[in-house]
Amino acid sequence: MKQLQSDVAEVLITEEALQARVQELGREISAAYAGKEPLLLSVLKGSILFLADLMRTLTVPHAVDFMAVSSYGAATESSGVVRILKDLDEPIEGKDVLIVEDIIDSGHTLAYLRKLLLARNPASLRIVTLLSKPARREVDVPVDWVGFEIPDKFVIGYGLDYAERYRDLPYIGVLKEHIYE
Ligand code: IMP
Ligand code: MG
Repeated sequence: MKQLQSDVAEVLITEEALQARVQELGREISAAYAGKEPLLLSVLKGSILFLADLMRTLTVPHAVDFMAVSSYGAATESSGVVRILKDLDEPIEGKDVLIVEDIIDSGHTLAYLRKLLLARNPASLRIVTLLSKPARREVDVPVDWVGFEIPDKFVIGYGLDYAERYRDLPYIGVLKEHIYE
């Protein structure tokens, strides 16, 4: 077992449950894109494990590209402004783009990304997020697939971090509160 497990207060979603749900999402997404060749747009870094597992379940040919964004911080958060740290390698005009996210919290990141990407005229733009915290939503974003709705707790693992740690845990866990202090 992973050494850092002692920092986990509770396992919220087990490895088995994650893998089963990703398989299900893969089937639904493959059906939705039948006859097409979507571009999976992974938002770094939290979505990398989800992306890697999701890709392996897809039965349609697909490409991947990456974007890295960061929030401007509390002062400008309500405006929904995010900073692009890394843009896509290729234009998305005319492509069927599927944004692959780790978690939707306030919704600001995805709302901003969606607007930015729609301006680039993709053929279609859909969103899959592994996790969603509905209680925290500040802006509405149309999400096509949600893996799990979770309570308002800070979670780590399966790609999600706290201060760049715990991304390697194979499950979704709740971080012990004393770790924040
Ligand atoms: P939003 O713009 O508030 O929806 O923030 C989404 C981003 O915040 C996610 O892509 C994550 O990087 C981060 N985030 C939100 N909640 C959590 C959490 O519980 N654990 C780890 N990262 C989180
Ligand atoms: Mg993220």
